[in-house]
Amino acid sequence: MPTFALLGLPIYGLLIQRAAALAPPNDDQWAQLNGTVGGHLYTSLPLASSCFSTVNGMPSTVNATECALVQQGYLDPDFRSVHYSAHMLPQWETCQSTVQRCLLNSNDPSDPTAWEGKECFQGAIAPRYIDVRSEQDILAALSFVNETGIPFSIKASGHDYKGRSSFGSLSLWTRNLDSLSYSADFTPEGGNESYPAVTIGAGVPFEDVYDFAEENNITVVGGYHQTITASGGWVQAGGHSVLSPVYGLGIDRVLQYKIITLDGVVRTANKFQNSDLFWALRGGAGSTFGVVLESSMLVEPQMSLRVAAISFNQTAENAPGFLQLIVDNAYKWGQEGWGGHMGPASLINVNPLLTLEEAQASVQPLMDYALAQNGTAVVEDLPSWESFFEKYVESAEASVGVQTILGSRLIPTDPFFTDADSKQALLDVMNKMIDTYAVNPYIIQGTPFLYNYTEGTTSATPAWRNSLWELGIHQNMNYNATLDTMFAQYEIVNNITKWMRELAPDSGAYINEANPYEPDYECNHFLGPNYPALLELKDKYDPFRLLDCWMCVGWKGAADERYSCYLNISTSY
Ligand SMILES: Cc1cc2nc3c(=O)[nH]c(=O)nc-3n(C[C@H](O)[C@H](O)[C@H](O)COP(=O)(O)OP(=O)(O)OC[C@H]3O[C@@H](n4cnc5c(N)ncnc54)[C@H](O)[C@@H]3O)c2cc1C
Ligand SMILES: *[C@@H]1O[C@H](CO)[C@@H](O)[C@H](O)[C@H]1NC(C)=O
Ligand SMILES: *[C@@H]1O[C@H](CO)[C@@H](O)[C@H](O)[C@H]1NC(C)=O
Ligand SMILES: *[C@@H]1O[C@H](CO)[C@@H](O)[C@H](O)[C@H]1NC(C)=O
Ligand SMILES: *[C@@H]1O[C@H](CO)[C@@H](O)[C@H](O)[C@H]1NC(C)=O
Ligand SMILES: *[C@@H]1O[C@H](CO)[C@@H](O)[C@H](O)[C@H]1NC(C)=O
Ligand SMILES: *[C@@H]1O[C@H](CO)[C@@H](O)[C@H](O)[C@H]1NC(C)=O
Ligand SMILES: *[C@@H]1O[C@H](CO)[C@@H](O)[C@H](O)[C@H]1NC(C)=O
Ligand SMILES: *[C@@H]1O[C@H](CO)[C@@H](O)[C@H](O)[C@H]1NC(C)=O
Ligand SMILES: *[C@@H]1O[C@H](CO)[C@@H](O)[C@H](O)[C@H]1NC(C)=O
Ligand SMILES: *[C@@H]1O[C@H](CO)[C@@H](O)[C@H](O)[C@H]1NC(C)=O
Ligand SMILES: *[C@@H]1O[C@H](CO)[C@@H](O)[C@H](O)[C@H]1NC(C)=O
Repeated sequence: MPTFALLGLPIYGLLIQRAAALAPPNDDQWAQLNGTVGGHLYTSLPLASSCFSTVNGMPSTVNATECALVQQGYLDPDFRSVHYSAHMLPQWETCQSTVQRCLLNSNDPSDPTAWEGKECFQGAIAPRYIDVRSEQDILAALSFVNETGIPFSIKASGHDYKGRSSFGSLSLWTRNLDSLSYSADFTPEGGNESYPAVTIGAGVPFEDVYDFAEENNITVVGGYHQTITASGGWVQAGGHSVLSPVYGLGIDRVLQYKIITLDGVVRTANKFQNSDLFWALRGGAGSTFGVVLESSMLVEPQMSLRVAAISFNQTAENAPGFLQLIVDNAYKWGQEGWGGHMGPASLINVNPLLTLEEAQASVQPLMDYALAQNGTAVVEDLPSWESFFEKYVESAEASVGVQTILGSRLIPTDPFFTDADSKQALLDVMNKMIDTYAVNPYIIQGTPFLYNYTEGTTSATPAWRNSLWELGIHQNMNYNATLDTMFAQYEIVNNITKWMRELAPDSGAYINEANPYEPDYECNHFLGPNYPALLELKDKYDPFRLLDCWMCVGWKGAADERYSCYLNISTSY
C-alpha cells in the first residue's frame, strides 16, 4: 500500500506533491476500510438519481417509487437531513462550473421536465461516505486518508451555505452520532466547576435538542432552523440565536468539545485542558481542526417568552416606512433584550426579560403601522422556547431544497444605531437593495448585545461583540439556471455585499452565512485578528493538512483542484 506516512514530511508543499502522486485507492483498499468501519462504508448517488435514466453517463433503471418519495420530500428539511446525498442548498450537490447536476425543479418537484431526457451527474456528492457510528470509524477513516492522500469532507446536516460539507473522494457523515444527555451538574474534565449542561452528539438536529430540553424543563439556546446540527458547523463558527442578545452565541455557551483531531488523537477541549484547541473551536469554523464527536452546552432554566409577530403585504410604498421604524427602534430593543428576524414587511421578535405589557408597548408603533396596512400583529406570552419554535419558527424559517446564495454583514451598533446620518446610510442601503434588485434585506437581531462577554475566550470575528445586527440577503437560483444566469445572480449578491462592506468596512461577516465569494476572507471579514493564531493551531492539530475546505483556515486556495466546481468568481474585487 503506498503511503506518504513513511516519508514523514510535515511540509505543506512537498506533502501535496506526494499526495498527488499517489494512485487512488483500489477496490481492495476500500474493502479493507469497509471492514475496519464495520461495513459502514457506502457508495452514493445524487438524491434524485432514481428519477433519471442516465446516471453518470451510464444507462440506469428508473425507480418510480423512490423518485416519488424524493419529489415528496424535496423541500422538507427532515427528509434532506436523513439522506447523505442531500444538502439543504442543492447547489452544493452540483458541480456549478461545469453545470453538471441532478436536481428536481424546486418550484414543482413533480415537474417531469427535470429528468425526462436529462442526465444525472454526481456533481459535488462524494462518491463514498462512511455512516459514522463510533470513534473507531473516524480513527480508521483518518488513518486511511492519511495513507492515501485522498481529499475528504465532513457532513452533518448539509446546511452549509458555502459548500464546506460537500466534495472529496470520501465523506464522513456524522448525522447518526445521535447521543443526547442532560446533567444538572456537568463538570468539564479537569475542572472544578459545574454547570447545568446538555451534551449533544455531532449529528443531533436542533429540533431534537429542543424536544429534549422541553422534556427536561430547561432552555437550550439554539438556531432558527429545525435541522441545523447543534454540535456541527453552528457551534464551531458562531451560532446565533434570537436568544443570543441576552444569553450569548453558541460559542459563548459551549463548555466542552470532544474531538478527534487530524493527528488521530481523541481529545477533550475545555478551559482546563487543550484550552488552545477549545479557543480555536469556538469560532474557527467546522472542518478545520478535526471531527467533533460531541459538545456540551450551558443551559438555562425553562423560561417563558414574549413574542411579537407582525406582518403585512409589502409594497414599494409601505416597505421604507417599516424599515425606518425597525432602524429607529433597534437600539432600544437591544437594551430591552429583544432578538428576532425582520424584513421590510414582517418581524418575529422574542424577549425573555420584559413583561407582556412592556413588550406590547415596546413594539406598539410597528403594530400600528402594520394594522394600518391591514396586516396582522400579535404580542403574546408563550411558556417555553419549544412552544415559540413550533408556533412561529417552523413556518417562517429559511426554505431548503432551493439553490440559495447568501450575502451578509455584521452591522456595528455605533454609529449605525446611535447617529442619525449613519442610520440614514443604513436605511439607504436597505432600500437600494429593494429598488435596484428587488432583493429584500433580511435582518437578524441575534448578536450577543447584552451578553457579558469575557474578552479573548472565542476565536470568531470580534465584530460580533460590537454589532447589533447581522444584515443579510438571499438570492434563489432556479434548479436549471444556466451558467450565465448563475454568474449574473452571483454578481447581484456580490454587488450588494460590496455595498454592505463599504457601509461598515471595519466590521466583519459571519463565516457561516457569508457570500461564498467574499473577498479578503482571512484578514478582515471572518476571523479578523484571530487568523494568525488560528493558522498556528491548524498546523498543530492538522500537521499534514488532511482537512481542507473553501476559505477555511489554512485552505489550499481557490486554484486547488478540489475547488474546480466552484465558479471562477474573483474574490479580490
Ligand atoms: C436554512 C438555514 C438556517 C440557518 N439558520 C441559522 C441560525 O439561526 N443561526 C446560525 O448561527 N446559523 C444558521 N445557519 C447557518 C448554519 O449555522 C451553518 O450552515 C452551519 O455550517 C451548519 O452546520 P451543520 O453542521 O448543520 O451543517 P453541515 O453543512 O453538515 O456542516 C457545516 C460545516 O461544519 C463542518 N462540520 C459538521 N459537523 C462537523 C463535525 N462533527 N466536526 C467537524 N466539522 C463538522 C462541515 O464539514 C462543514 O464545514 C442556517 C443555515 C441554513 C441553511
Ligand atoms: C499520519 O501520518 C503521520 C506521518 O507518518 C503519522 O505521524 C500520523 O500519526 C498519521 N496520522 C493518522 C491519523 O494516522
Ligand atoms: C461495506 O460493507 C457492507 C456490509 O458488508 C456492504 O453492505 C456495503 O455495500 C459495503 N460498502 C461498499 C462501498 O462496498
Ligand atoms: C425502488 O425504491 C423503493 C423505495 O426506496 C425500494 O423499496 C425498492 O427496493 C426499489 N426498487 C428497486 C428495484 O431497486
Ligand atoms: C477551582 O480551581 C481554581 C484554580 O485551580 C481555584 O482558584 C478555585 O478556587 C477552585 N474553585 C473551586 C470551586 O474549588
Ligand atoms: C420547570 O422549571 C421552572 C423554572 O426553573 C420551575 O419554576 C418549574 O417549577 C419547573 N417545572 C417542573 C415541572 O419541574
Ligand atoms: C384596508 O382595508 C380597508 C377596508 O377593506 C380598505 O378601505 C383600505 O384601503 C385598506 N388599506 C390598505 C392600506 O390596503
Ligand atoms: C395579502 O395578499 C394576499 C394575496 O393577494 C391576500 O390574500 C391577503 O388578504 C392580503 N393581506 C393583507 C393583510 O392585505
Ligand atoms: C451583565 O453584567 C451586569 C453587571 O454584573 C449585570 O447587571 C447584567 O445583568 C449582566 N447581563 C446579562 C445579560 O447577564
Ligand atoms: C427551466 O425549467 C423551467 C420549468 O421546467 C422551464 O420553463 C425553463 O424553460 C427552464 N429553463 C432553462 C434555462 O432551461
Ligand atoms: C454590479 O456593479 C457593477 C459596478 O457598479 C455594475 O457595473 C454592474 O452592472 C452591477 N451588476 C449588476 C448585475 O447589476
Ligand atoms: C479564473 O479567471 C481568471 C481571470 O478572470 C483567470 O486568470 C484564471 O485563470 C481563471 N481560473 C480558472 C481556474 O479558470
